[in-house]
Amino acid sequence: MSKTFAVIGDPISHSLSPNIHSAAFRELNLDCVYIGYRIPKDELESGIEGLKKIKIEGFNVTIPHKIRIMKYLDKIDESCSLIGAANTIVNVDGNLKGYNTDMDGFLEPFKKKGLEIKNSKILLLGAGGAARAIVAGFAKEKAKSITIANRTIENAEELSEFAGKIGLASDVLKIENVKDTAKNYDIIVNATSVGLKNEQSIISLDGINEKTIVYDIVYMPMNTDFIKKAKENNAIVIYGYEMLLGQATRAFEIWHNMEAPYNAMKKALLGGF
Ligand code: ATR
Repeated sequence: MSKTFAVIGDPISHSLSPNIHSAAFRELNLDCVYIGYRIPKDELESGIEGLKKIKIEGFNVTIPHKIRIMKYLDKIDESCSLIGAANTIVNVDGNLKGYNTDMDGFLEPFKKKGLEIKNSKILLLGAGGAARAIVAGFAKEKAKSITIANRTIENAEELSEFAGKIGLASDVLKIENVKDTAKNYDIIVNATSVGLKNEQSIISLDGINEKTIVYDIVYMPMNTDFIKKAKENNAIVIYGYEMLLGQATRAFEIWHNMEAPYNAMKKALLGGF
């Protein structure tokens, strides 16, 4: 019988994960299927029961369940407990084990391109769930310091406290006070949702150069205004789809215990744009 995988969330119809994983199954001739399953916010418990009944092998978790799924897990790995959220679950005979691939997915493009994080000065825009996984990633890779700029300063302060606890020096800033300081950083990351609706970049990138790494985690549209401004300044660009691909390949490896077919998955993802 085919093995079944899923992504749960709400909304789910726009998810690219079924395409990406199905392409991997085809590439490697695996007898597996991957479906999108809409579970509304207040139906998580019954949704999970349903998944267990159909003997789901594993599933991804997206908005709005990433944090609340934690209480339904029998085991969590270190990435999950560090970030406080799960996005990849393995089901072994009704026992659920959670992982969080956001951090590894975020770091993957740096590794693939041989870009150094160690001793870098970071400017991070945003202080939500994704930003937390990113802070954990920069701490792991021994960045020098991180400036967290956010619309709501309290959220930035909370994240800064987390950074301190895991050994990464940080300070906070209201996002409108970034002004012309982008050029003082080695790596600039947009982890806000600004760009999803084609908005203008929330900060100026004037003065950055060809050594600056600019990373947007917004993947739709691919060429956000933030990315365009980075390119105008000849910066090194990392697209949001690269993180998405990093997360998907990591999830694949957790579930199937073999190397993910990166190129086939990338092709399926880019075909989705
Ligand atoms: P995710 O899980 O994708 O990180 P989230 O936890 O809702 O989503 O975080 C969204 C981030 O985008 C937050 O940093 C949010 O800023 P606030 O903490 O002030 O809410 C930021 N954000 C969303 N819309 C924004 C906007 N229009 N301008 C500036 N920041 C915005």
